Amino acid sequence: MTDPGERLRSSLAADSSSASFSAVPADFDSPIAMEALRATRVLHAAHQEPFPAPGRIRVITVANQKGGVGKTTSTVNLGVALALYGLRTLVIDLDPQGNASTALGVAHSVGTPSIYDALVGDSTLSEVVHPTTASPNLLCVPATIDLAGAEIELVSVVAREHRLRRAIEAYVAALPRERRPHYVLIDCPPSLGLLTLNALVAGDEVLIPIQCEYYALEGLGQLLNNIDLVRQHLNPGIAVRTILLTMYDGRTKLADQVADEVRNHFGDLVLGAVIPRNVRVSEAPGYGQSVLTYDPGSRGSTSYVEAARELARRGVDLPPLDAPAGGTGATPVGALAFGETAEPFRTQESQ
Ligand SMILES: Nc1ncnc2c1ncn2[C@@H]1O[C@H](COP(=O)(O)OP(=O)(O)OP(=O)(O)O)[C@@H](O)[C@H]1O
Ligand SMILES: [Mg+2]
Repeated sequence: MTDPGERLRSSLAADSSSASFSAVPADFDSPIAMEALRATRVLHAAHQEPFPAPGRIRVITVANQKGGVGKTTSTVNLGVALALYGLRTLVIDLDPQGNASTALGVAHSVGTPSIYDALVGDSTLSEVVHPTTASPNLLCVPATIDLAGAEIELVSVVAREHRLRRAIEAYVAALPRERRPHYVLIDCPPSLGLLTLNALVAGDEVLIPIQCEYYALEGLGQLLNNIDLVRQHLNPGIAVRTILLTMYDGRTKLADQVADEVRNHFGDLVLGAVIPRNVRVSEAPGYGQSVLTYDPGSRGSTSYVEAARELARRGVDLPPLDAPAGGTGATPVGALAFGETAEPFRTQESQ
């Protein structure tokens, strides 16, 4: 392992597009100076090195029925990173716990227009989308506790597995190109019920966070089987495209063993960036913030930036999806074009 300061300096030197950092003084190695440097880098990201836009609008379902593996933390922090680095991003909180809404500082008390109204009621997504304080590029559809009843209420609804997909398709298609999101991230609850099923039908790819702990792989087979079933019967385009290792504790052998096992099993699907166990990551939601805005120079923050950068780079070559032949049915989101300019979202209130 090289010294972290050395690693950061060489990464900055290699960052040719970052003119403001090309003159980093060689003696820039006090921990506080390094942290300030990292923080500046994250907070002024979009001006230095915006992430590349994906080849098509990406709808990513963040799922793992195991609880507490970092689904919400990853959805929120990847979403904020993508937005800070210039990509329009929509986070949909599909968990009645409303943790993603909390972490993005979006109100989600009972009565707040939320994903429940779009899934079970007649609201459109544009009526339940909220701005976030993290970035004008980041919007959030919050979840309220009402969503806990949705699993049961949806049972009698027509095309109940397709509700979220239809809502996203209608929302994106109605936006002018230059305001369509580049990324839609869906945070799933820790179960394989009707809510997660809706998310698997709505997405064109799945991101699975895996905690670098004992039993990490247990239950994963069941999730993969479910994804196969959804592919066969409901959403032929869905595929696991990304695995993210979370809560890695470099002091334990176990974390390395789990990481190796996951890499052997999933190969290139696993992002090179690994999220360390970092107390700032767990503190941030308490302040209604992502770790990127709460402590931008922390290791948790920079590792989520790296993971998001990799995610974005891998998305560049994705081909746009085909629109359905004969113009029947809704056009999949991945077949819709989006504007090239990095124009922030505007919500209904700000128009
Ligand atoms: N890298 C990290 N370092 C330290 N703590 C973390 C890290 N990632 C997540 N946590 C903490 O671990 C707990 C579980 O994380 P999170 O809520 O993201 O998991 P989840 O999979 O969404 O859980 P659930 O299944 O309940 O929805 C939270 O308290 C979170 O703050
Ligand atoms: Mg969660």
